[in-house]
Amino acid sequence: MSEDPFLHLDRLTRTFSGSLAVRELTLEIAEHEIVTLLGPSGCGKTTTLRLVAGFETPDAGHIRLRGRDLTRTAPQRRGFGMVFQHYALFPHLDVGSNVAFGLERSGLDRDAVEVRVAGALDLVGLPGTQRRSVGSLSGGQQQRVALARALAPEPEVLLLDEPLSNLDAALRERTRRELRTLVKEIGITSIYVTHDQEEAFALSDRIAVMREGHLDQVGLAEELYRRPATEFVATFLGRVGVVAATVERFSPNGDVVCRLPGDATWTATAPAAEPPLEPGAAIRLMARPEAVEICGPDEAEAVRGVVDDRRFAGSVYVYTIEVEGGRLEVQATGDVARVGAAVGLRPPSAPDGLFAFPARSSEAAR
Ligand SMILES: Nc1ncnc2c1ncn2[C@@H]1O[C@H](COP(=O)(O)OP(=O)(O)OP(=O)(O)O)[C@@H](O)[C@H]1O
Ligand SMILES: [Mg+2]
Repeated sequence: MSEDPFLHLDRLTRTFSGSLAVRELTLEIAEHEIVTLLGPSGCGKTTTLRLVAGFETPDAGHIRLRGRDLTRTAPQRRGFGMVFQHYALFPHLDVGSNVAFGLERSGLDRDAVEVRVAGALDLVGLPGTQRRSVGSLSGGQQQRVALARALAPEPEVLLLDEPLSNLDAALRERTRRELRTLVKEIGITSIYVTHDQEEAFALSDRIAVMREGHLDQVGLAEELYRRPATEFVATFLGRVGVVAATVERFSPNGDVVCRLPGDATWTATAPAAEPPLEPGAAIRLMARPEAVEICGPDEAEAVRGVVDDRRFAGSVYVYTIEVEGGRLEVQATGDVARVGAAVGLRPPSAPDGLFAFPARSSEAAR
């Protein structure tokens, strides 16, 4: 029995003068879910949101809400609210008029509009600010006015395009917690856009990692961090070191035993590769800093290296170790080695945090 997804982005494609901004992007979003589109600048996040909102028309593909095709429906008839990358508040209008702007075409009478505006401002924690001028508010408050404007028409879906990017670090962290609480309280299905991995982790139910107009992987934060499908996801969601290695053999559970320089064998998780990895194949073994440990240079299964850099990072020290065929980063709780020291690196007992990608996977990028 197959049921229509609540919100379905189905193979959306959008080109701008010959260049693909969004390429066959497919994403299914459940009701009440917060999904984040996470990716670097220029990867097509805003374009995707604008396609969903109806400010852009796709060259191909469909947008469906509960199975109903909205691809050609005008923005104001979709029932979606959007908070823009730059709040796009009207500085010459007061807070109340800014929030009421979203209701202009709603057909509500003046009193009903006022009730909605008051309700939306209550919701975002700015009750009674209708007559304040937008310019007299802090960045965080303006962000909430933009959110109130998007929520006032009581949309079925909320689209948020980097709504916190104008706030300083401390305020951003606080506001993102409030935002998640608020969105979850209202229960509104949301697509959140950011290029900030921490923000994505803090806000989302699921994360869709976007690169060059396409989704590399969609999943829970833990899945993306622990089992990245591509090198891009591995590097974008946390730190990794890389060392050249070869496939020795496969474990019965599909993990790959890799041979490293100096003849150590480390077991890594093996994301699906096309064509599949074979014994003897060259790979790029990626390691999270917390997965590898510094040990004596002669320990069994250790990879030998030299400490190239040592950085104090508050709760941990981070070492960069030059090894044959690459550089690895290692996190340690104590100050365990000096720059220039010859050390060994020991793999984790489970293959967590070690990923084997085909050596050519970065060129063979889809
Ligand atoms: N109206 C437009 N005309 C031409 N090209 C456009 C237009 N809008 C976007 N693009 C191009 O499409 C690509 C994706 O842009 P988009 O704004 O969607 O990226 P983004 O992921 O939101 O980036 P950022 O994180 O910097 O906001 C870019 O190469 C951009 O130059
Ligand atoms: Mg953008």
